[in-house]
Amino acid sequence: MSTLAVYPGSFDPVTNGHVDIIARGARLFDRIIVAILINAEKAPLFTTDERVEMARTVFQDQQKVEIDTFDGLLVDYMERRQANVIVRGLRAVSDFEFEFQLALMNRRLNSNIETVFMMPAEQYTYISSRLIKEVFTLGGRVHGLVPEIVEARLREKVSIR
Ligand code: PNS
Repeated sequence: MSTLAVYPGSFDPVTNGHVDIIARGARLFDRIIVAILINAEKAPLFTTDERVEMARTVFQDQQKVEIDTFDGLLVDYMERRQANVIVRGLRAVSDFEFEFQLALMNRRLNSNIETVFMMPAEQYTYISSRLIKEVFTLGGRVHGLVPEIVEARLREKVSIR
């Protein structure tokens, strides 16, 4: 039986921490879908289309990785895609409480779905999309923390503001 995993999130924007988790997931599972939540935040920096375009560019050469969007309940999307594993990254203990709630609620909603937590490489344990946006918008350097396409799109976004 082949295992189809879903890595859901806002990805506003995708960071090297996400890329690291996706690469680990692609080694572990037959296929991994990066499922970008539509309208995750009230005011996301990047539109859904922009987030998809950046993620697709990053993973264009990786056959096992698919980029998709979803709205509504994650478990409903998983059922539609016939996926049975949710991948989530755990960076620090502070992530745990929210992730624990998410995993157990998803299990309650659909007991056939398992959540698998993966740790990113140490150098990415402190980064988040929120911090990247804040640092970049205030003029800080994010080189090495996001893919090149994301850095370029951040530059464009900030210059037209
Ligand atoms: O990157 P994020 O913002 O931490 O991702 C959170 C996400 C998208 C995984 C979560 O908010 C989600 O699954 N939302 C979809 C709606 C849903 O299913 N909610 C109940 C989850 S228990």
